[in-house]
Amino acid sequence: MTLALFPGSFDPVTNGHVDLILRAGSVFDQVVVAVGANASKRSWLPVDQRVRLIEAAIEEDQLRARVISFSGLLAELAADLNATAIVKGVRTTADLDSEAIQAQVNHDLCGIQTVLLPATSGNARVSSSLVRELFFAGAQIDRYVPPSVAAMLEASRPAPTQSA
Ligand code: PNS
Repeated sequence: MTLALFPGSFDPVTNGHVDLILRAGSVFDQVVVAVGANASKRSWLPVDQRVRLIEAAIEEDQLRARVISFSGLLAELAADLNATAIVKGVRTTADLDSEAIQAQVNHDLCGIQTVLLPATSGNARVSSSLVRELFFAGAQIDRYVPPSVAAMLEASRPAPTQSA
């Protein structure tokens, strides 16, 4: 039984992430999506909400995956789960440079391999930071995130204040 560990901040989950979950599921028997903290980023949504948004997206698309949160080292989680590989997406050469370093460190720590999947062309420009920027500016985000995620985030958007 092969298990793919797909980690990220998912702040929030995007169409690009969902595409990667789908593709990881076509290669591995099981996919575990792991919501963690990136030490170099300040998060927007609380971890439990990020987990719920991914679960809603997975249910909507009827994908095979389990969603968990984690703290601490990814390599320790990979060893605990007896994961076959870590799966990450790459959109840009900057992503590739960063992922290559993380893949090396995670391999050094526990011998795990990392499988990098290139973003599909439609999702190559989609990122959580783009979605956050649009959302904070009051713009629509529905073309970049699953419908359930757009609905849940829109429902949490504060009503505009009336100016006199
Ligand atoms: O979506 P992101 O921000 O690229 O996700 C990054 C994440 C959470 C996967 C990464 O920061 C991570 O693995 N954090 C756990 C801590 C850890 O293991 N750090 C060493 C990795 S080389």
